[in-house]
Amino acid sequence: MLSDKMLDMLNTQLNKELYSAYLYLSMSAYSTYIGLKGFANWFMVQYQEEMFHAMKIYDYINAQGGQVKLKAIDQPPGEFESPLDMFEKTLAHEQFITRSINELVELAIAEKDHATSIFLQWFVTEQIEEEANDNEIIARLKLIGKDGNGLIMLDRELATRVFTPPKE
Ligand code: FEO
Repeated sequence: MLSDKMLDMLNTQLNKELYSAYLYLSMSAYSTYIGLKGFANWFMVQYQEEMFHAMKIYDYINAQGGQVKLKAIDQPPGEFESPLDMFEKTLAHEQFITRSINELVELAIAEKDHATSIFLQWFVTEQIEEEANDNEIIARLKLIGKDGNGLIMLDRELATRVFTPPKE
């Protein structure tokens, strides 16, 4: 059983995950447009991961007998200055999501909602991995700088990422 406040915050988090998916789909499209197919693949996989996160919350609300309420999804940016700009925006967005998950955890603890606390632990762990992935690629893009060959090599590597549903 979810409190009204928890239900509202979970529906808001569902919206944030859907926006995340939309943001990374936009980055994938832009990467394709500028000829970086590997980056496009990486962001497409990220889009799939975000849809998985969204549906995990959707299923949890339903399982708890709550009402899923879909809100409007904001328009994401469609143009980016560089691959580094995309990943810096990705990291900033993930840090925002981490803060949002932490607020949900704090509410669950305050309400002694143990079921939601346990449910949210998966997201707490997932956010560590998400930020680590972004930090690693940002560091490599900074090393690459304006070296076109380095960028092409990284693009080839990012082309190999495949979506595998995260472990429960
Ligand atoms: Fe669903 Fe990237 O956080």
